[in-house]
Amino acid sequence: MIHYNLSQKVAIITGGLGGIGQAAALAFANEYAKVIIWDLDAEKGKKAEYDIRINSGGKSIKFMLVDITNLEQVEAATEAVNELYGSIDILINNAGITRDASLQKMTTEQWQQVIDVNLTGVFNCTKFISPYMIKQKFGRIINTSSIVGLQGNYGQSNYVATKAGVVGLTKVWARELGPKGITVNAVAPGFIATGMIATVPQKFLDAAIARTPLGRVGTPKDVANAYLFLASKHAAFINGVTLRVDGGMVI
Ligand SMILES: NC(=O)c1ccc[n+]([C@@H]2O[C@H](COP(=O)([O-])OP(=O)(O)OC[C@H]3O[C@@H](n4cnc5c(N)ncnc54)[C@H](O)[C@@H]3O)[C@@H](O)[C@H]2O)c1
Repeated sequence: MIHYNLSQKVAIITGGLGGIGQAAALAFANEYAKVIIWDLDAEKGKKAEYDIRINSGGKSIKFMLVDITNLEQVEAATEAVNELYGSIDILINNAGITRDASLQKMTTEQWQQVIDVNLTGVFNCTKFISPYMIKQKFGRIINTSSIVGLQGNYGQSNYVATKAGVVGLTKVWARELGPKGITVNAVAPGFIATGMIATVPQKFLDAAIARTPLGRVGTPKDVANAYLFLASKHAAFINGVTLRVDGGMVI
């Protein structure tokens, strides 16, 4: 087993109560990072804090109620994390939503909701957290794209626009923040077994598995492992890439 040892590193994981986010929170806690989850459900947050603390043998985990679409909340929470921990080293822009419909059926509201979370939320968090990383001349930012952001997908104009947008933002920020000691990379998961794909009809999942050389959907841990690697010192010279975690579905 690889040990990344993120000891003393402070890591914010947005959407950390979801399938991938919670696996990432546990994986980062197990590597001794001080993990802070930003998500929307206080009750679920308390339970996740408890579960992750138990499952990681008592390591550092904290939940904060933060809606990443809300600029004031993001700014206040960023200041609170810095006050509590004295630095912010890792940002995993993992929160994301879908509101699927084909072009003609997609409402303006569905369009806007997805843009607000998946794109503006990523902008908000990175805008407010990166100055702390710049000050300490170190940071790791990992954005969550999707393979559909690379190849498109029926019924996902809004989602695909944001996930392709995240690839673009990753390249811009890799250029802007690289000279300041911060790497910015993206992960593009394929189909991962979380609540997000619970509504995908089985025949689509079967078709996706048939197109995947490794012959299965991914697990949240598969994606968490990619986050860990990109956040670690082993990825020190990797900047501006989008790493697919899809079993080879898109090659
Ligand atoms: N599951 C997949 O197959 C898959 C594939 C490709 C990419 N992704 C991406 O991976 C990321 C994680 O997805 P998941 O499968 O764990 O989804 P999930 O639905 O299980 O978790 C997403 C989390 O984001 C949180 N969230 C939503 N809006 C928020 C907001 N405004 N502020 C703070 N938190 C908010 C939700 O409450 C939820 O806990 C997303 O960006 C998703 O687009 C997932």
